[in-house]
Amino acid sequence: MTLPPTLALNVVMLGPPGAGKGTQAERFARTHALPKISTGDILREAVQAGTALGRAAKATMDAGELVGDDVMIGIVRERLERPDTRAGFVLDGFPRTVPQATALDAIMDGRGPLVVVDIVVPEDVLLRRLAARRICGSCGVNALIEWTTTCGVCGGALITRTDDGIEIVRGRLKVYHRETRPIVEFYSGRPTFRMIDGNQPPDVVTGAMDRAICEASSSAASGPVKEVRL
Ligand code: AP5
Repeated sequence: MTLPPTLALNVVMLGPPGAGKGTQAERFARTHALPKISTGDILREAVQAGTALGRAAKATMDAGELVGDDVMIGIVRERLERPDTRAGFVLDGFPRTVPQATALDAIMDGRGPLVVVDIVVPEDVLLRRLAARRICGSCGVNALIEWTTTCGVCGGALITRTDDGIEIVRGRLKVYHRETRPIVEFYSGRPTFRMIDGNQPPDVVTGAMDRAICEASSSAASGPVKEVRL
């Protein structure tokens, strides 16, 4: 679908653990040449590198709890100040609480609308997906089904994510319902909010998402004229 040339494409992916936010954010960002900003990836890289952020966040992440709002808002504010986000971005994993969503609105002031996509998947499917997920222990990419023991990108060993144990996943789902689900209500009245059925093959989800985001962005562009800072 063709996009209006001057409108920044600012996308937020919402959904519970295992909904496919990371998978779809990667695909959409690649297709539209936008930076993908995954707060989970940023934190995991910090843990792997042993930085102060990583050392502070590791126990919280391993327990399936959320890292503090102030820390996360600071990370995202700094990342969205970089010039590569001026034409838009795809946010995966942020916002996750109402204070984070409120802060994002303030950060976005004057930068064009957010297109918010909520990926909906039944809980039994989420549990199955996360029990089966393997990632690369070196580069962190989700393993494809045909990779048996090593990563097809960098050759690293495949491992289970430290927060994908069944009890931790159940805890992450509880945290999602308590902290993150309320931001679906926060966004759902906006004209650029869309829901996507994520319980379909990945390529079908990708197509539905691409159409929904481009249509929402185009309809925002044809609405009342607003100044967009590029
Ligand atoms: P994060 O990494 O964001 O984890 P999450 O939200 O729990 O999401 P997941 O990565 O588990 O799932 P996903 O929806 O991205 O699905 P994916 O595409 O990987 O955060 C991790 C932790 O960091 C948090 O618990 C918290 O501690 C901290 N954190 C991060 N952001 C934070 C914030 N803003 N505030 C506070 N704390 C924060 O797919 C999952 C699996 O399913 C894969 O194996 C994939 O191949 C498969 N799959 C995907 N789509 C399909 C499909 N359509 N059909 C079949 N299989 C599929």
